[in-house]
Amino acid sequence: MKIYRSTLLHTPASPFAVPDALQTFSDGALAVGDTGTIAHLGTFTEVLAEVRAACPDAEVHDLRGGVLLPGFIDTHVHYPQVRVLGGLGMALLEWLDRNTLPEEARLADAAYARTIAGEFLHGLASHGTTTALVFGSHFAGAMDEFFAEAAARGLRVVAGQVVSDRLLRPELHTTPERAYAEGKALIERWHGQGRSLYAVTPRFSLSASEGILDACAALLTEFPDVRFTSHINENNQEIEVVRGLFPGARDYLDTYERAGLVTPRSVFAHNVHPNERELGVLAAQRCSVAHCPCSNSALGSGLFPLRRHLAAGVHVALGTDVGGGTGFSLLKEGLQAYFMQQLLGEEGAALSPAHLLYLATLAGAQALGLDGQVGDFTPGKQFDAVWLRPRAGSTLATVLAHAESEERTLAALFALGTGTTWSGCGSVGGWCLRGRQKPERQEPLGLAWGLAFSV
Ligand code: GUN
Ligand code: ZN
Repeated sequence: MKIYRSTLLHTPASPFAVPDALQTFSDGALAVGDTGTIAHLGTFTEVLAEVRAACPDAEVHDLRGGVLLPGFIDTHVHYPQVRVLGGLGMALLEWLDRNTLPEEARLADAAYARTIAGEFLHGLASHGTTTALVFGSHFAGAMDEFFAEAAARGLRVVAGQVVSDRLLRPELHTTPERAYAEGKALIERWHGQGRSLYAVTPRFSLSASEGILDACAALLTEFPDVRFTSHINENNQEIEVVRGLFPGARDYLDTYERAGLVTPRSVFAHNVHPNERELGVLAAQRCSVAHCPCSNSALGSGLFPLRRHLAAGVHVALGTDVGGGTGFSLLKEGLQAYFMQQLLGEEGAALSPAHLLYLATLAGAQALGLDGQVGDFTPGKQFDAVWLRPRAGSTLATVLAHAESEERTLAALFALGTGTTWSGCGSVGGWCLRGRQKPERQEPLGLAWGLAFSV
């Protein structure tokens, strides 16, 4: 048993449902068993007394000077797009055509894909993301590289091969038969292996025939535990094209609904322009929406109607949408979500720091059906954490030193946590600390099952 002493903040419940959902311990502790499960949570004094009663020589790791949060959960991020980040100045369809799809085609080469997988997974880990729903590559070989690399680094990933059979570029097209066969083989190889799960992933209805959506549905029927993800209602021009391609569909969601792809296992990215019928069905079917505010801003897709989602009862979490977004930071997504709701004025949702933390952690776990394992520090869950320590002399360090409450501490992390040069512990970025890490990734403070970095 090990004890980790730090300022601890987490949201074991949703602040959208419960007023006091943010739980804070200014001098708190977690006791973690040898298998990485949290055994106790409380003030340092309480936890020390409880643990030492049974286990007098339990080690204490002193992480004071930083803040321990649950590991961030990114519910929408594209593995093949790490190198195309920063392609500003275009809206979705032009951005796909000119900036993104040419790069995605390069992942036909497995050696290239392996390099990209390494760069991408480093991007997640170094920004404190320990779990992600990852939009994969169109190539099965590139998915093998991805899952192998994720397992080596110990990250929790839900990911799948992306399938399309029209309107992209010929190298990225498949057939319903091949999509089914390759998907089945990937599920059998990777789903439930270590921390990896599979997500059936048609790119979007614009690039999918009814045949390929049916092939996706066949996989979901055959494997009742795999997840589903796709894009929806991101951009007005895209919505018009989809309307033309599916003349019998009531709306965008109906293109998926008719194929049986709208279930509690479904996570739809964006949904910036939904109608009331779609919101009602998403809520009734207990689907989740991945809100990607930096991407929506960068691509000019629109202002996300969070209030309408909440009023309809639709579950919402956060995604970075790398590379339509602007990087891997869920702190930045939280801040941008806040800005967007502020700019919506009367139509916006009022977001507190607790809402931002919830959206970046437990909400993501709930969207992925992983809230029994990660998302907060409730005993019984995995110790899956990010430790944020301000660089000495940084503005963040100054603000935290004078924060008058834990809520202000949290607000400062979101407001300033991405404006600070990476530093601390002798390296740039993060250390993935899940047991199988390479020696140079060893974290000097000895966290065994979490992930730590400094801002
Ligand atoms: N819709 C279809 N493909 C994509 C993609 O790669 N990024 C975004 N943001 N939207 C999409
Ligand atoms: Zn996307």
